[in-house]
Amino acid sequence: MITVLHQAAQDARLAPSILNTQPWRWQVHDDVLDLYADADRRLPEVDPHGRLMTLSCGAALHHARVALAAAGFEPAVDRLPDAGRPLLLARIRDCRPRPATQENLAAYRSMRLRHTDRRLFAQGMPVPGEVLDQLRVAAEAEGARLHLLQQQDVVYLGYAAQGAHKVGAHDPRAAEELHRWTHRGADAPDGVPPGTVAGAADRPVPLRDFGLGDEAALSPGAGDDADAVYLVVATARDEPLDWLVSGEAVSAVWLMATARGLAGSPMTDVVETPGARVLVRSLLQPPGQPQLVLRLCVAQTPAPPGSPRRPAADTVTVTEGRSSGEGV
Ligand SMILES: Cc1cc2nc3c(=O)[nH]c(=O)nc-3n(C[C@H](O)[C@H](O)[C@H](O)COP(=O)(O)O)c2cc1C
Repeated sequence: MITVLHQAAQDARLAPSILNTQPWRWQVHDDVLDLYADADRRLPEVDPHGRLMTLSCGAALHHARVALAAAGFEPAVDRLPDAGRPLLLARIRDCRPRPATQENLAAYRSMRLRHTDRRLFAQGMPVPGEVLDQLRVAAEAEGARLHLLQQQDVVYLGYAAQGAHKVGAHDPRAAEELHRWTHRGADAPDGVPPGTVAGAADRPVPLRDFGLGDEAALSPGAGDDADAVYLVVATARDEPLDWLVSGEAVSAVWLMATARGLAGSPMTDVVETPGARVLVRSLLQPPGQPQLVLRLCVAQTPAPPGSPRRPAADTVTVTEGRSSGEGV
């Protein structure tokens, strides 16, 4: 079992994460796979409470579950199992054999195909309504809700994004943090490469301003995002468990969307910035706590460039025999 768990933890490196920080550590021991948040990779300015770090780890947790399901196993998962060790986010245990379904295998394939696509989407390719229904069910199965913003609400999301930009532009420490994670160097295993950030363009809803200016090397394309849908992942409460579950829901929705031929990019500046967050929250019916907005549309070719990942040896440790219980 150790080999299967080890492989699942390695596959989980493909998960999306805030600024590609990959803030997770895995420990395999005694047929158990433990997921820890790596607090050294939290972003103190952008993410003071660790919400986005925990969301990112939730996405990695879901990726590991998908890898196990594709390998023919269904585990039990304990979330936040030890109140005395808040960085221990999840324990995967008791993997039972269960034949992989076509949906499991499609999700597993999507883990390699999914990339954040920040380009404008072309018009004339609306997202089919039945796919949106399936995505909603996928989010609910993970314990989160998915709100589709109606056309009139997208205008307000645009205001929220503009507001978030204004706040960010006046925060030199946040700007310095962004600069650090967008200038890691060509061989770095983490961070947001400028080649994955679209250059300036008119958009109904502006994306996060990475502060790259002319360094943003991805052509935004000729689209106008008119057919893009904006899906808000939300929870009833706003505690660490909700952040973790939301990350799992983001992964479930995004992998399913990828398998259905969609692509897109998350937006969290509108959730991090208090004023923008209040505005986004006011759009949710039934009421809820917004955790992340996913902009989706029909995927276009060529696929956008991918982002690097840290080597497995940096994020996964295997301990024979019982764990010290201290974590990693
Ligand atoms: C919690 C979370 C928040 C994110 N926030 C944003 C964002 O505000 N803007 C953006 O363009 N991308 C955002 N992303 C996408 C990441 O930058 C992206 O996942 C990472 O750079 C790795 O690239 P990949 O998704 O192509 O593998 C976010 C991802 C996660 C998981």
